[in-house]
Amino acid sequence: MVDSVVSHLLTARQRPILPALPERSVLEAAVGGELPQAARDPEVVFDQLEKHLSRYSANFLHPGIMGWVAATPVPLAGLLGGWLNALRIFPHSWKLTAGSTHIETTVIRWLGQMIGFSDGAAGYVTTGGSFANMYAVCVARHRALGLDSRRRGLLAAPQLTAYASEHTHMCIRQSLGLLGIGEDHLRQIPVDTACRVRADALEARLQADIASGHKPFCIIGNAGTTNTGAIDDLEALGALGKKYAVWFHVDGSYGAFAAMCPETSGLFKGLSLADSVAIDPHKWLNIPFEAGCILLKSWDDLSEAFSHVPPYLRAGDTPSQHDHWHYGFELSRADRATKVWFELQHYGAKAYQKLIQSHIQLARKLAALIREDAEFELVAQPALSVVCFRYISHVPMDTDLLDRVNAAIEESYLAEGRVLFSGTVIAEKHVLRACIINHRTTWGDVREGLEAARRVGRRLAEGLTQRGLAAGKHNARQYELR
Ligand SMILES: Cc1ncc(COP(=O)(O)O)c(C=O)c1O
Repeated sequence: MVDSVVSHLLTARQRPILPALPERSVLEAAVGGELPQAARDPEVVFDQLEKHLSRYSANFLHPGIMGWVAATPVPLAGLLGGWLNALRIFPHSWKLTAGSTHIETTVIRWLGQMIGFSDGAAGYVTTGGSFANMYAVCVARHRALGLDSRRRGLLAAPQLTAYASEHTHMCIRQSLGLLGIGEDHLRQIPVDTACRVRADALEARLQADIASGHKPFCIIGNAGTTNTGAIDDLEALGALGKKYAVWFHVDGSYGAFAAMCPETSGLFKGLSLADSVAIDPHKWLNIPFEAGCILLKSWDDLSEAFSHVPPYLRAGDTPSQHDHWHYGFELSRADRATKVWFELQHYGAKAYQKLIQSHIQLARKLAALIREDAEFELVAQPALSVVCFRYISHVPMDTDLLDRVNAAIEESYLAEGRVLFSGTVIAEKHVLRACIINHRTTWGDVREGLEAARRVGRRLAEGLTQRGLAAGKHNARQYELR
């Protein structure tokens, strides 16, 4: 397995980003079939697995991968994960697994320090940002309604409402659904031209909800949206949280680590006002899956929402003896914190700060290039390392057709294989989106992403011209793109 990791690392750039899609029958023959009854040599089984699993999985080690929020794992932490699992070292309780338990609380404290949230943060290491955000919504719900609702449910409770920008990650909406509050009770507040939530609109909506008998319970600020990397005015949102006695949560899953960097730390002013922050080491710290984290100011916030001590788990828990069933929902879980601990020891926080700065510089360089280029339009000035842009052709096109050209360029990244930007929709326009958080990405890769968009954009535009469509605006309904 170690040899295989090494050979994949050595060929990371040569192998295409996206695998050829197999026929289902091919995979069925390779890794499907009947429940095995007899023993087999694990080396032979692994050979079979390696051949098919990596061939049909996207190559997330590739330096050109800049789609979605795709980091690439630092390899030693990946191997460490296997070591921890093989030995069943995991965070459970002080009595059984004090080392892993103490590392988890240490990592939580370090993460809180790194982003300037708190020097003594409480928290819980989760599978990722989605769960970290859900934990925050759960704690906020508990804060608003108290123990009674934890026991008796929400039926007798006032209707809770939460507030977040329209660009907020879908997991917040899902959390409201899963926690019985209802997805419709997430108020999606419009953003300004920099894609930051409009605090005035948020306050107006909150006041209207109070007036109609609802109970606002959570304001969610973004410290780096998925779409554009925008950072809300956290100071203003924190002040609103205080004014209306509403829990203030910040989703920093993607962006909060940039608070470490002197050039961008000012954008995160107000982060320390948050009651909780979601942060994802498996994003910008390039830690292998899974490593997300919810940070809070007090352990009591978690224990009031989660703690249960059934007779089969009785154990002590003083502040120095940490038993995890007081602070979260999962009982048996993998050790997710030790690989973060290991890589922070291995590289040091300063190296991560430099990495993040370098990604922000690459994003700014790309944005500057796009701004000067008549074939492209910069859709949002990058606050961090997400660059949203659009191919605009010299061939006149209506908005729908331009949308489809950009959607076709997005698709073409999936086919070309050397670099991958993804796409999104901003202000109802289909845009291309580079998110630079991969520690192997170079300026050459970023540049190639733009050139790939140009090549495909020109080919599509020329196709339209050749069909005699030089004059007048082409429109999406008339023409199939090829
Ligand atoms: C801002 C933000 N929040 C939450 C999430 C969800 O994180 P995860 O995929 O780790 O569950 C993401 C994922 O990209 C994100 O960008």
